[in-house]
Order: sequence, then C-alpha cells, then structure tokens
Amino acid sequence: MSRDIKIAPSILSADFANLGRDIKTMTEAGADIIHVDVMDGHFVPNITIGPLIVSAIRPYSTLPIDVHLMIEKPDNYLEDFANAGADYISVHAEEVRHLHRSLSRIKELNCKAGVVLNPITPLSFALDAAEYSDFILLMSVNPGFGGQSFIESFYRKASELRNELNKRGLEKVAIEVDGGVKIDNCQKVAESGADWLVSGSGLFKGDLTANIKLMRQELDKVK
Ligand code: DX5
Ligand code: ZN
Repeated sequence: MSRDIKIAPSILSADFANLGRDIKTMTEAGADIIHVDVMDGHFVPNITIGPLIVSAIRPYSTLPIDVHLMIEKPDNYLEDFANAGADYISVHAEEVRHLHRSLSRIKELNCKAGVVLNPITPLSFALDAAEYSDFILLMSVNPGFGGQSFIESFYRKASELRNELNKRGLEKVAIEVDGGVKIDNCQKVAESGADWLVSGSGLFKGDLTANIKLMRQELDKVK
C-alpha cells in the first residue's frame, strides 16, 4: 500500500441500542476513526446525536472520534463536543459565517479542524480554508441520511482538490469523503484522492467485522 488510507465507520448506521458493542467491534476489526454524524433538524432534515452520546461512547475505544456537525450555529457547540471527547471536528462551509474563527476555535480546543463541502459547493471555499484546516471533508451525498447513492462528481472534485493542495504545499491536509462509500467503490474513491473514507450502510449492513476487513483488502490495492 502506497498511502495511509483510513477507514471511518459512521455510527449513524450502528445499532443504537448496542452502540458500545458496535464501537468495540469496529475497533477490533481494524477501523481507524469513529465518524459521528450530528444533525439538528435545521441544517439537515434529520435529528441524531448530541455531545451526551459522544461522551457515552468515548470509553469504548481509543480511536479518534470524528464529529461531523450538520447543525446550524455550530460555533455554539464546539466546546461541548470537545469536552465530550471529540478528537476531530468539522463544520460546513455553507453554514459557518466566519470559517477562520471556527477553525481556530476548534484547534484551540485541541481538536483537528475540518471544513465540509456539500457536493455542489465550490471547491474554492475549501482551498482558501485549507491552510487553517487539518482536513477537508467532501460530501459525496447530500447530507442528512445514511444509505444514499454516491454522487459521481466527487471523483473529479477530489482529484482537483488533491492537486491544488499539493501545488500549495498543503500535502498534509487530509481529504475525507462521506456518503455512499462501499466496499465496491472504495478503491476508486481512494485513488481519486481521498485519505479518510467514511462508510455507514456499506459497513454495517451484514457483518461489520468482515466488511471492515474486506474494505481494507480493497484499499491495500490502491495505487
Ligand atoms: C450523511 C452522513 C454520513 C452517513 C453516510 O449525511 O454525513 O456520514 O452516515 O452513510 P452511508 O455510508 O450509508 O452513505
Ligand atoms: Zn458524516
């Protein structure tokens, strides 16, 4: 394997009555990051998880917890999620008015900071934010629900972003992808430039351990 590509199961597709068990299973199966989808019923139609759940799952794994904030006014909640045990926090460029301030605040809270772009939000938002970010999350579905189909324009966008980051000397900024990533497309997704692959239904449907191992085998083929 030439690159360090990370698998980030999204607990949105986990069994919420057995979240601790699922977190342990994914950790033992070799996942790299725990992706947590926070939705407020305003920025996206769905409502999901708050800081209480993040602090409840924290003792079940030493893997980094990656909090994807799909909420209005995320600045008001950064501290709560950091205190609950988040390691990475990302905010949507479509929502945040003062992106530089939000990213700086996330870093002050000792978390890695990320900017998220919806599928059709221009890449320029992320490019200007990149030097202040640890990662850029490109959505490959419209945020709000698990189990949607992958939007193909991701491939072009990710390659363009990776090239631009490299040109600007920002090779260390990771590209995360979220939505519709499964065992059968993960190799192509990684080859287009993604470093961290979020996958919900693609891993939790069926046997979680077996699926994580199969995804790892596919990623080992990445050129
Ligand atoms: C969508 C969320 C995703 C979601 C991905 O709004 O941000 O993290 O859980 O689910 P799948 O992999 O099923 O598309
Ligand atoms: Zn997500």
